[in-house]
Amino acid sequence: MVANNDRTSPASEALDLAGIGIGPSNLSLASLLDGVGNVRAHFYESRASFDWHPGMMLPDVELQSSYLKDLVTPVMPTSPWSFISYLVAHKRLYAFLNAHYEAVPRREFAQYLAWVAGQLKNLTFERPVREVTFDKDQFLLRLDSGTVSARNLVLGTGTTPFVPSWATPFLGEKCFHNSQAKHRLPGLKASRIAVIGGGQSGGEVVEALLNSKSTLKELNWFSRRHNFEPINDTAFSNQVFSPEYVYAYLNLNNDQKLEALKASILTSDGLSISTINAIYRRLYSLRYLENRNIEAKLSPNRDVIQVEADKDGYRLIVRNRFDGGVEVAHADAIVLATGYQFRLPDAFAGLQERIQFDRNNRAVLNNDYCLSWSGPKQNRIFAQNAGRHSHGIADSQLSLMAWRSAHIINALLGGDHFDLEPHDSQVNWLSTGHDAMSQSMAVDY
Ligand SMILES: Cc1cc2nc3c(=O)[nH]c(=O)nc-3n(C[C@H](O)[C@H](O)[C@H](O)COP(=O)(O)OP(=O)(O)OC[C@H]3O[C@@H](n4cnc5c(N)ncnc54)[C@H](O)[C@@H]3O)c2cc1C
Ligand SMILES: NC(=O)c1ccc[n+]([C@@H]2O[C@H](COP(=O)([O-])OP(=O)(O)OC[C@H]3O[C@@H](n4cnc5c(N)ncnc54)[C@H](OP(=O)(O)O)[C@@H]3O)[C@@H](O)[C@H]2O)c1
Repeated sequence: MVANNDRTSPASEALDLAGIGIGPSNLSLASLLDGVGNVRAHFYESRASFDWHPGMMLPDVELQSSYLKDLVTPVMPTSPWSFISYLVAHKRLYAFLNAHYEAVPRREFAQYLAWVAGQLKNLTFERPVREVTFDKDQFLLRLDSGTVSARNLVLGTGTTPFVPSWATPFLGEKCFHNSQAKHRLPGLKASRIAVIGGGQSGGEVVEALLNSKSTLKELNWFSRRHNFEPINDTAFSNQVFSPEYVYAYLNLNNDQKLEALKASILTSDGLSISTINAIYRRLYSLRYLENRNIEAKLSPNRDVIQVEADKDGYRLIVRNRFDGGVEVAHADAIVLATGYQFRLPDAFAGLQERIQFDRNNRAVLNNDYCLSWSGPKQNRIFAQNAGRHSHGIADSQLSLMAWRSAHIINALLGGDHFDLEPHDSQVNWLSTGHDAMSQSMAVDY
């Protein structure tokens, strides 16, 4: 394995794999590679240390997935980098079990991830990758400290906050994406606040606002969905977070994928039941028990289509999809909980022309998580968390990250280092007689 340095000396031999970004996805890959002797891999991260969505680390937020779907357990339960190993190392396994968490606090899971990141030797922090180019048979990564060369890349730069174009001119102290909530909410001087977006981020911001001791007088929460929809966390629905489902999904054409994705959206993007209950009970308490004067307007089916500055804040133009009406709302501050999107990092500008995009301008991802590009076949650009459309809803979640990392390692080594043979699916996704595996991922090794 690679020594604990950032390998920027021009004389150093090319890495087998260079990772860009160290969030949970690439941390999972780095953890699994720690047990694979013959791969020289190193990962680079902009931040000074591991930090998991710090701008959304609001009070009492919880993990939406099982702690057993950690960095390694689903494919290598004997790894030292499991969540259970972290609990044991911190001498709190029994205490954790006695706490009977229905969902693990996100703070705890973030501490686990940081604990792993603090020990792996194949990571370097405070090294933003500024530019990636390709020369002959290797990628060159420009860092502030020099250049690293690698035969293969793995992108783990995550998703980027989505800001609607009408909001861009107003971005700042009083109009911001939820990814900055933790830092901006405490100092926010606003008595009328609009939260736009009815997903889990919007819910967590609303809950934090209702619990804060601020001067809030009016809260407008807009959701474009039919209602403030809960996450579908039931047994059959959760089958979409299984390798078997991915193998089946890969057999679909583009239109079928889009349909399947739409149909499964609430398995991933709905509101946690605990968040819904917390908000509802807080509103109940404010209204009936505390007699506090916060006017909370909950407006589903609303598409915010325009924002204008008015003399003491913002004027929002909102289309009501329920009855077709158009409404006007006013706010002193706006929190945009409008989602996240995958896009190639700016460092890829020079490679952009060589990468294939589909008609919706999405970078094309092959079944084995490689971007389709015009360079030599043996130089691969793997991409994590980039395949929500190509590989299904689970790709943007933690649930299958260990399995996806194992798949990438198998593809890199050209063999079955990890046993990824699918289990028997309890749900028959494909037509009878169709062998999902043979026609999807197995082909690319
Ligand atoms: C608030 C929040 C909570 C979530 N909770 C859950 C959950 O409970 N369960 C679940 O299944 N999913 C959850 N998700 C969805 C998903 O699992 C997370 O977004 C997860 O963090 C994705 O991991 P990632 O490594 O792909 O990306 P990220 O976590 O976004 O990490 C990407 C990293 O790349 C770095 N980077 C970017 N560009 C460069 C560059 N040029 N050079 C170097 N480094 C760079 C960034 O600094 C960052 O650290 C959550 C999402 C959000 C927004
Ligand atoms: N605690 C946790 O575990 C946690 C916390 C936060 C996030 N997450 C996860 O991270 C992912 C992202 O969640 P998210 O809440 O940030 O994003 P999201 O689920 O994509 O929700 C964003 C919402 O904003 C809506 N929206 C966008 N533009 C709008 C507009 N102009 N007017 C009204 N509504 C608008 C979208 O509507 P449409 O639906 O119509 O597009 C969407 O419903 C999810 O998978 C989520 O589960 C997890």
